[in-house]
Order: sequence, then structure tokens, then C-alpha cells
Amino acid sequence: MMRIAVLISGSGTNLQSLIDAFPENIVLVIANKADAYGLVRAQNAGIETKIIDHRDFPDRVAFDRDISTHLRAANIDLICLAGFMRILSDEFAQEWHDKLLNIHPSLLPDFKGTNTHQRVLDSGKTETGCTVHFVRAALDDGPIIVQGVVPVLAGDDANILGNRVKKMEHHVYPLAVRLVMEKKLTIENEKVHIKRMDHPGGLRIQMEDIA
Ligand code: GRF
Repeated sequence: MMRIAVLISGSGTNLQSLIDAFPENIVLVIANKADAYGLVRAQNAGIETKIIDHRDFPDRVAFDRDISTHLRAANIDLICLAGFMRILSDEFAQEWHDKLLNIHPSLLPDFKGTNTHQRVLDSGKTETGCTVHFVRAALDDGPIIVQGVVPVLAGDDANILGNRVKKMEHHVYPLAVRLVMEKKLTIENEKVHIKRMDHPGGLRIQMEDIA
């Protein structure tokens, strides 16, 4: 059985979608903030939790090494970042190469970083979405597994658009994890190839697919 750890900093709605989809596999939730509501979600599901506060460490590498120590001790096979608001060191990304996933609220490579929904609105784009990808050392970079496309509608503000994207996130993250878990993909030249699909670059989901 694949043992999955989820790293969070906040409300943990993506964590919840993963718990709902893989109740047996999520065995550890680590938060860098003691008041992250996702910790309550994990506890309600009977999952072990750990608070590792980055402020208790002299630097990023020391913090990441401590997280890695806990992940190794728990025999973790796959790590899902779900609203974990710390940039991880190159060393961490290398240690967990191809075992570390992230969800980002935009159609990468567009709109890396924070405040994505407002930036999408300011850009005038009519489409946005979310991306689940393998993590590489660079921020919001790495082979894409699944993207969910969401329309930008007249009257949207960052909050309304963010909620629409979140709904899509809760579909695509479990889908991406399932593809990894069931070994339905390979990575070649830093592109994800999904078995039985003839084009590389991961899966693309539309709103009508989740309606
Ligand atoms: C999500 O929008 C995710 O894409 C981003 O952080 C947010 C986390 O939300 N990386 P939640 O804590 O899962 O509700």
C-alpha cells in the first residue's frame, strides 16, 4: 500500500479531497502552522499529525531536513503539497524526486507564485485553472500530471474565481494521485506520458467533465 504524507499550511480543503479519495493511504499530515485547520481535518479522520514550525529552525535547509526525517521515519512513498506555503530547498526536491506532488491554482507555466486569481483577472484572460505537477527545484515547476481548465466569467472577483478553481482542484488532485498510485504514467524528458494516451504533457480536464 502506498503511504502518502500531505503537507499543509492552511484550511486543507485539498487535503480533505485526498482523505476522502484515499482514506487508507494518507498516513501523515505535517503543518508548519499550529492553527492550520487542515490539522483538525486530519485528526477527525484519525490520521497522525505533526506540527513542524519553520520559525524553530535557523534556515530553510534545517527545516526541510527535519521534515524529511519525519517522512522517512513514517516510510512515506509519496508527498502531496496542499497549500504548503513554504518554498522547499533544492536538497528536499532532489531527495523526493518523482515522489513529491504539488497543486497550483493556475494553468502552469502561466501565473507561477502567489495571488494568481487577481493576476489572471488583471490579465484579461478568459480561462484559468489548476495544475498538479511533480515538484522540481524551481518554484512551481516540474512535469505536469493533470490540469483542470476553468472559465473566467464576467463579474468574477478573485474570491469567486478562486472558489470555482478550488472546486476543480478537488477533482484533479485525487485524479493525479490515482494516476501515480496505479502507475499509469511515466516521465520522459521531463514530460508526463499517461499510458494509452498518445500525446505527452499530462491530462487536461474541463468543467463539463466534473459537472
Ligand atoms: C490551493 O488553492 C492550492 O492550489 C494552493 O493553495 C491552496 C490551498 O487550499 N497551492 P486548501 O488549504 O487546500 O484549501
